[in-house]
Amino acid sequence: MKHFAIIPGDGIGKEVIAAGMEVLDAVSQISSFEYDGEYSQIGSDRYLKTGELLTDQDISDLKKKDAIYFGAIGDPRVKPGILEGGILLKMRAVFDQYINLRPVTSWFPLVPLKREVDFDIHFLRENTEDFYMGLGKRFGPSYSDKKNADGSYDVELGVKRESYNMDFKVNAHPTADDDYSIEIGLVSRKGITRWADYAMKYAIARGDDKVTLVDKANVITNNYGMQREIFQQKADEYGLKLEFMFVDAMSMAMIVRPETFGTVAVPNLFGDILTDLGAQLQGGLGMGGSGNINPNGVSMFEPIHGSAPDIAGQGKANPIAAVLAAQMLLENQGFPKEGKMLHDAVRYVLDHNQTTPDLGGKLKTAEVGKAIADFILNQKK
Ligand SMILES: NC(=O)c1ccc[n+]([C@@H]2O[C@H](COP(=O)([O-])OP(=O)(O)OC[C@H]3O[C@@H](n4cnc5c(N)ncnc54)[C@H](O)[C@@H]3O)[C@@H](O)[C@H]2O)c1
Repeated sequence: MKHFAIIPGDGIGKEVIAAGMEVLDAVSQISSFEYDGEYSQIGSDRYLKTGELLTDQDISDLKKKDAIYFGAIGDPRVKPGILEGGILLKMRAVFDQYINLRPVTSWFPLVPLKREVDFDIHFLRENTEDFYMGLGKRFGPSYSDKKNADGSYDVELGVKRESYNMDFKVNAHPTADDDYSIEIGLVSRKGITRWADYAMKYAIARGDDKVTLVDKANVITNNYGMQREIFQQKADEYGLKLEFMFVDAMSMAMIVRPETFGTVAVPNLFGDILTDLGAQLQGGLGMGGSGNINPNGVSMFEPIHGSAPDIAGQGKANPIAAVLAAQMLLENQGFPKEGKMLHDAVRYVLDHNQTTPDLGGKLKTAEVGKAIADFILNQKK
């Protein structure tokens, strides 16, 4: 029996998670997959009532679960950044969900390419290091920093992680009086090693014989050079081929020959960009699921879209992204056969135009959820 936390969140998050839960229920009725789901009120309504974002109590409750199924957060009544930082980003950090898994699958004919092409790229974005650590600062006459007697500035930066804390003191000595800004992209051997290890295991589980590593090692030679060395060691250890792609070439290759990629490891900043390109390639926001994974801890699965206040409450939200997130949750929790049932059911509703208006259909969110669930229930032999 699996124990899940269900966090519908805000706006269409509530609607698509309701559809996703109907689908999970259907799977549990016809397979050996058994679960219970405890709902959590984390989100904007609770925040507006009590001021609470992700509390210590929430964290200790969530820690007891096998995984989290998440809708979306975001509310026009709350200043941008508060819910995102205080709930989503905090959750990813607290649970050290260091892999962001984003499958990019050809859902023909939704694919905006000129030709029919069968691809299934699984991006494994490193989720904790690189240029997204918030390790930066501006300095100069427009900011409050005091200049030292010798004309230099002391720029102090710090990072706190479960695996390490680090303080930086940069003594910047500009020869011209101006404002400056620095942003440090930090990677660690431990951080790269655990990610590379996961990528190799993931590729083997998928049946891929290679891993593609995306970087810009020809320009950012230190960080991405170290990354290449560690990935190469891991690839040798697991007997897999390792292909290196520069991020600029990769963004072109994803359009020209997406079918040549399988498991793709990409550092944090480039991953943010490439996975959005991937989302569009597979048919848009309503078609993308995402996993924030800690292989030894609590992972979280969610659609890639936000709370979409412009369509919330109207039944227009496409629940397929949430269903594909549920597929990832099942696969991650050891139920690959059941995950495939969801994948096949999504293929079926697309082929029969049982979709919401964003995909050209006429159904409401709940009706698409029911169509997917019914297809699964009909598989019972
Ligand atoms: N992971 C998250 O919880 C997450 C992610 C992104 C944005 N947000 C938050 O969501 C709020 C809205 O942000 P946004 O408008 O930039 O992004 P969004 O993803 O909510 O919506 C962007 C556009 O896509 C449409 N759309 C999104 N999902 C859809 C679906 N399932 N079916 C049909 N149409 C869909 C919306 O109607 C909207 O026009 C903000 O508060 C933002 O911070 C949260």
